[in-house]
Amino acid sequence: NNIAIFASGSGSNFDAIVQKVEKGELDVNIALLVCDRIGAPVIEKAQKYEIDTVVYRPKSFSDKSEYERAVLDDCRKRDVEFIVLAGYMRLIGPTLLQPFEQRIINIHPSLLPAFPGKDAIGQALEKRVKVTGVTIHFVDGGMDTGPIIAQEAIEVSDADTAIDIKRKIQAVEHRLYPKVIQSLFIKEESQ
Ligand code: GRF
Repeated sequence: NNIAIFASGSGSNFDAIVQKVEKGELDVNIALLVCDRIGAPVIEKAQKYEIDTVVYRPKSFSDKSEYERAVLDDCRKRDVEFIVLAGYMRLIGPTLLQPFEQRIINIHPSLLPAFPGKDAIGQALEKRVKVTGVTIHFVDGGMDTGPIIAQEAIEVSDADTAIDIKRKIQAVEHRLYPKVIQSLFIKEESQ
């Protein structure tokens, strides 16, 4: 059960997934962290857990597909079967999508199809929604599109700031993502 996690940022979801694996509650091997931002805090987290990491500067490649070929190569070398996006701020192109069809998932901090793209929490706040939440979905070529696997709602009160909403959303994300990853693997094994 080799998975790669792709992340660009702070890595709180990465951390939550690793902790479940360490506790023996999630039956996968995190074979690789792919990070596309030099200096991102998630890199230090991976070092702490001694997880194999590659860090790229996509701009130093001639185009997206050249960058993704390098990433594909990293995944193949480690027999990665499944890719988990956890705050990876980049669209996945055909170079990775084709070989990993139905094998890339993403987590997004809204109830999709509402508020796709950047700053989903800010978008929700601006619309004064009473309910928002978390979506986990298969990745296709679009921005936060693709078949939905799981969703969970949180309530927003009038007094909530962006920080309050983020805190509620992250609590859900850190519980839901490991659970969904586990259930996807169980399903695969029983086929
Ligand atoms: C999460 O809110 C996730 O839904 C979104 O990016 C954020 C990543 O946060 N795609 P972190 O780096 O895991 O803390």
